[in-house]
Order: sequence, then structure tokens, then C-alpha cells
Amino acid sequence: MKTTKLVMLVMTIAVALFILIPNLSWAEDGAAIYKGKCAMCHGADAAGKPAMKAPSLISDDAKKLSDADLAKAVTGTAKHTPAVKSLAADDVKAVVAYVRSLQK
Ligand code: HEC
Repeated sequence: MKTTKLVMLVMTIAVALFILIPNLSWAEDGAAIYKGKCAMCHGADAAGKPAMKAPSLISDDAKKLSDADLAKAVTGTAKHTPAVKSLAADDVKAVVAYVRSLQK
């Protein structure tokens, strides 16, 4: 019954891709948003830019902030531009997840 095994293998791969792809694209969204809307002030590596008075997002202090704190900072920081503050809730979540990935 070799065919059955092959079918099972293909099915397993299909299911694995279904589970993996949304996660991958989600992380990529966060990276794209970060590059487009955050990197110019906080730096591509999120280490901060003194010239922009933008703090590091990968400092020990920033690591201590909860996801909710980070999300609130994105939408509620006076220095953030309207483009940053008006991000949709999902985009804020994605970019916070990306910042977390940079903190590791
Ligand atoms: C126009 C420059 C600018 C842009 C663009 C910008 N930031 Fe900021 N951000 C700042 C500054 C300046 C501060 C310091 C807060 C203050 O002084 O009000 C800050 C503060 C923060 C904080 C709080 C850090 C802490 O330790 O409390 C977070 C989190 C943050 N930014 C994330 C982001 C994210 C994520 C984006 C992109 C969606 C972004 N910022 C885009 C300038 C910017």
C-alpha cells in the first residue's frame, strides 16, 4: 500500500503548511510595518536613535514592558506621528510581535 503512504505524506505536508503559512506572513507583516513606520526613528535594529530622541526598543527596560504596554506606547506616544498612531489594532499586534522578536 505504497500509494496510501504517499497520500498520507502529502496530506501531512499540506496540513503543516496550512498551520505555518499564516504565522510566517503575520511575522512578515510586522517586519514590513516596522521598516515602513518605525525604523526611521527607532533604527532598523530597534536600538534607538539619539538624534531622533527615539529610545531603544531592545533595551532591558523595553524587554520588561508587557505586550499591552508596548501596544499602548505605539498608539499613545505624543512623539509618534499620525501614521504610527492610526495603525489598525492587528497591525499594532503584528509590529509588537516583531519588536519582541528583535528583543531575543
Ligand atoms: C517620528 C519618530 C518615531 C516614529 C516613526 C516611531 N517612534 Fe516610537 N518613539 C519615538 C519617540 C521620540 C519616543 C519617546 C517617547 C516620548 O518621548 O514621548 C518613542 C517611544 C516609543 C515606545 C516607548 C518606549 C519605552 O521604553 O517606553 C515604543 C514601544 C515605540 N516608540 C514603538 C514604536 C513603534 C513600534 C513604531 C512604529 C509603528 C514607532 N515607535 C515609530 C519616536 C518615533
